[in-house]
Amino acid sequence: MKISIFGLGYVGAVSLACLARDGHQVTGVDIDRTKLDLIAAGKTPVVEEGMVDLMQQVAASGKVSVTTDAEEAMLGTDISLVCVGTPSAANGSQDQGAVLRLAGQMGRALKRKSQPHVVVFRSTLVPGTVEDVLRPIIERESGKKDGEHFHLCFQPEFLREGSSIRDYDKPPFTIVGANSDAAYTQLEQLFGHLPCKFLRTSVRAAEMMKYCCNNFHALKITFANETARLCHALGVDAFEVMDLVCQDTQLNISRAYLKPGFAFGGSCLPKDLRATAYLAKTRDVELPMLAHILASNQNHLELAFDKVVAAGSRKVGFVGLSFKTGTDDLRESPLVSLAELLIGKGYELRIYDPEVHLARLLGANKSFIEQHLPHIGQMLHAEMDTVVAGSEVIVLGSNSPAVIDALAARLKPGQQVIDLVRIPSGTALPVPVQGLCW
Ligand SMILES: NC(=O)c1ccc[n+]([C@@H]2O[C@H](COP(=O)([O-])OP(=O)(O)OC[C@H]3O[C@@H](n4cnc5c(N)ncnc54)[C@H](O)[C@@H]3O)[C@@H](O)[C@H]2O)c1
Repeated sequence: MKISIFGLGYVGAVSLACLARDGHQVTGVDIDRTKLDLIAAGKTPVVEEGMVDLMQQVAASGKVSVTTDAEEAMLGTDISLVCVGTPSAANGSQDQGAVLRLAGQMGRALKRKSQPHVVVFRSTLVPGTVEDVLRPIIERESGKKDGEHFHLCFQPEFLREGSSIRDYDKPPFTIVGANSDAAYTQLEQLFGHLPCKFLRTSVRAAEMMKYCCNNFHALKITFANETARLCHALGVDAFEVMDLVCQDTQLNISRAYLKPGFAFGGSCLPKDLRATAYLAKTRDVELPMLAHILASNQNHLELAFDKVVAAGSRKVGFVGLSFKTGTDDLRESPLVSLAELLIGKGYELRIYDPEVHLARLLGANKSFIEQHLPHIGQMLHAEMDTVVAGSEVIVLGSNSPAVIDALAARLKPGQQVIDLVRIPSGTALPVPVQGLCW
């Protein structure tokens, strides 16, 4: 394929070298003449393992050319990869200056081009940039339409500096955010041979997932480092602890707990986070990330409260009350906290949970509910019918399929549901449903 690459920093230079190695004809474009001269001379503009030899080899193969002329590069190629920098602006926002200027140039080049062209944005871009910001610029400057005369798409880059050639050849996966088959097919030809999943998604999801990955990596590093600070203060070997943590591939290093939902609660997580924060305080160790998890959880709970308030009715029915489906444990259940907040504001509550029977509650579970919902006896109903029939807004906090089906059968026009569990996509409720943040 004839490929132009815009921006020859870490991402662009490595992509140029690897694509030329794989037999493609590659034109590198940059505004920095020094980088272009280095590449033209078979030298690498970035320090990366393997790049010295690879640049020499691909320059000698005649498969690489360089230019500062963006329009010339687009006219001479079928597909363009955009790898220009998107650094932080002073206020923390993304500085899109380079990609915005480039979009204008690309639009003007496309105006002169009669063959279709695919533009792949590989720079990290805040969600919505390709469709809401770059596409209008390119369409305006070219006088042509995305999806007809040219095809825009977004393919996040996952290489890591220091191991970028190895990462190029073995990425965790290839994600293509594309609206048109033309863009997807071209990228499949370019990257489909790599030993990983090749996934197609919306452009926005592809943009967002790149941020999500980097945020998750930062979160993991900080988790390990905060754990190490506390371990060190306590005389515990942090490497031993983290190694053990990583050996649990069922709950720790897994998909577990990574699905959006309602706030967490229960008899363990909140109390153990509090104890950890207290322990750190007694040893003068600052753990800002761990110490703010409960505050973030509270924000999630308040979001649900705001949704119920915004629903506009004071007759609220809860379907589900325990901290998770399938247990009667009410200790620190976020649904109990939500009920407390609503009762405090004078809401009329009816509650149904198939697992919760007042007479059967014992010990700490019983005393927790007596303390937090002392009048629970008047609100708790043994049958779902009375709760649903007497409520205008239903808060769904149980993800039991049987419970959701039973609810679906009882709902009547005029009612609405606030979904805290994400009702499965195949289950349709006969009334308006609002997800918590979905
Ligand atoms: N560095 C990484 O490990 C990495 C990994 C994944 C994603 N990314 C993302 O990829 C993008 C590029 O990162 P990088 O580290 O390679 O950046 P970089 O700063 O090393 O290189 C960017 C290059 O773009 C050039 N440039 C600027 N404006 C241009 C224009 N109008 N036309 C042509 N070239 C232009 C610059 O001269 C520079 O050489 C960023 O959005 C970054 O967030 C980087």
